[in-house]
Amino acid sequence: MDVPVLSLQALKRQIKAFPIYRHWYMNRELRRFLEHEEMHLHFGVFRDFAHARAWLPRSNEFDDEALVDDYLNVRTQRIFAYDYPVLHWLHRAIDEGARRVTDIGGSVGVHYIAYRRYLDYPASLGWQVLEVPAMARLGRALADKAGLDALSFSSTLAAGDTPADIWLAEGSIHYLEQGRPDTLLARARFRPRHLLLNKLPLYDGEDFVSTQNLGCGLFAPHHVYNRQGFIDGIEAAGYRLIDRWDVPERSFFLPGHPDKSFGWYSGLCFRVQEDAPGNAPASGSLKCTM
Ligand SMILES: C[S@@+](CC[C@H](N)C(=O)[O-])C[C@H]1O[C@@H](n2cnc3c(N)ncnc32)[C@H](O)[C@@H]1O
Repeated sequence: MDVPVLSLQALKRQIKAFPIYRHWYMNRELRRFLEHEEMHLHFGVFRDFAHARAWLPRSNEFDDEALVDDYLNVRTQRIFAYDYPVLHWLHRAIDEGARRVTDIGGSVGVHYIAYRRYLDYPASLGWQVLEVPAMARLGRALADKAGLDALSFSSTLAAGDTPADIWLAEGSIHYLEQGRPDTLLARARFRPRHLLLNKLPLYDGEDFVSTQNLGCGLFAPHHVYNRQGFIDGIEAAGYRLIDRWDVPERSFFLPGHPDKSFGWYSGLCFRVQEDAPGNAPASGSLKCTM
């Protein structure tokens, strides 16, 4: 008589299909999400930020000095592999005449400070970080102490309120409720020539809102965007994608949602299309080779 042989993997799949298993698994993952002092844990799918915030434990989200250690002591001091594409495009933009950077969610000025060792900043460079009040306050104090006159902070201005050649956003715009670049560009009084976006949670499924454990008992909602829709929105606003890269150091695991989990974050570089309707003529020469 033939006895059917069940592989270990098939057996695991069958066990996981039991509702009682899923219930136990989701409870375990929820406890882990709520209790671990660990960044990069995510949980849940929500309709919008309001629903995510209503579900999360109350916290200051990013507006809390408890979060500043890693930014002050690590990210101002060194760069990571995912910074190199940004350095490359920043260097080219500066070579072509860009002098004003709006750094959305640039923490205490981590990118300005860490990139100084790799780029020769022109004396006329101005670098404005748009941040939550706690980060802006700490960043201002740091810049004053170190005499970094080019570095300024605001927690009241939005991207596009002041003229900028480059909008930089690294691991940040998905935490802004209305942070989609196409939305920001539509509202901007001043539009940049270059858009440099790094560490973005983009994947091939539908847009959704999830939540993140930030460590230190703090939690925040954030967006996850459909890759093509995100790119198309920016291109429809009059920009052209000139580079994209993977950020394998960041992945997104959502318990109970393998279809919404993905193995790497993304980086994108756009440049304004001079001939798109509504775009101002360029002030410097463009040598786009990609
Ligand atoms: C994960 S950190 C990334 C920081 C830095 N850009 C980096 O790559 O290391 C996200 C940053 O976005 C900022 N942020 C979150 N919500 C924001 C908002 N509404 N306006 C401005 N910045 C915000 C946070 O304060 C935090 O510094």
